[in-house]
Amino acid sequence: MTGIFYGSTTGNTLALARQIADRLGIATAHLHDVGGASIEAIEPYDTLLLGSSTWGVGDLQDDWYSFIDSLKNADLSRKRVGLFGCGDSASYPDSFGDAIGLLHETLSGSGCTFIGIVPATDYPLQESKAFQGGQVLGLLADDDAPEKTASRLETWVAALQNA
Ligand SMILES: Cc1cc2nc3c(=O)[nH]c(=O)nc-3n(C[C@H](O)[C@H](O)[C@H](O)COP(=O)(O)O)c2cc1C
Repeated sequence: MTGIFYGSTTGNTLALARQIADRLGIATAHLHDVGGASIEAIEPYDTLLLGSSTWGVGDLQDDWYSFIDSLKNADLSRKRVGLFGCGDSASYPDSFGDAIGLLHETLSGSGCTFIGIVPATDYPLQESKAFQGGQVLGLLADDDAPEKTASRLETWVAALQNA
């Protein structure tokens, strides 16, 4: 079973979370705003899809701070984790989607298995923490290139389903 956990300030990552849920047939009850979620909410899920937009310059979305502290101390050794989020490559080229990189880095010691890491072929800028060796660490929607989101979503979903 899959649970989606997101933090969103202006609603973009929430909209992306809903699009992901629709695409994967995940019921609304499994969409959790990390601003109000307790860590126990992760228990029923073997797959966690974690979404954060990037704020400040390369920071997690505000609602994530308390939840990520609990998550990094949890035993995620039987969980698969996919990452997604929104950013703006035009205004923040060097920190575009950094939140995805931060989630990846913070949970790298948790024992989880990351899924949905895909070739970054259609991302012209790969300078931020969201990218590693020609791959993007999750699904990244760009305020500056919204027309790319649908195909990026399909690539990411295919990787999740083949994991
Ligand atoms: C003050 C401010 C700082 C931002 N910093 C970044 C950033 O460092 N990197 C990035 O990719 N996007 C950055 N953004 C863009 C947001 O991440 C983007 O608008 C996103 O779609 C917001 O999603 P949300 O509504 O789910 O929070 C910033 C936006 C604002 C207004």
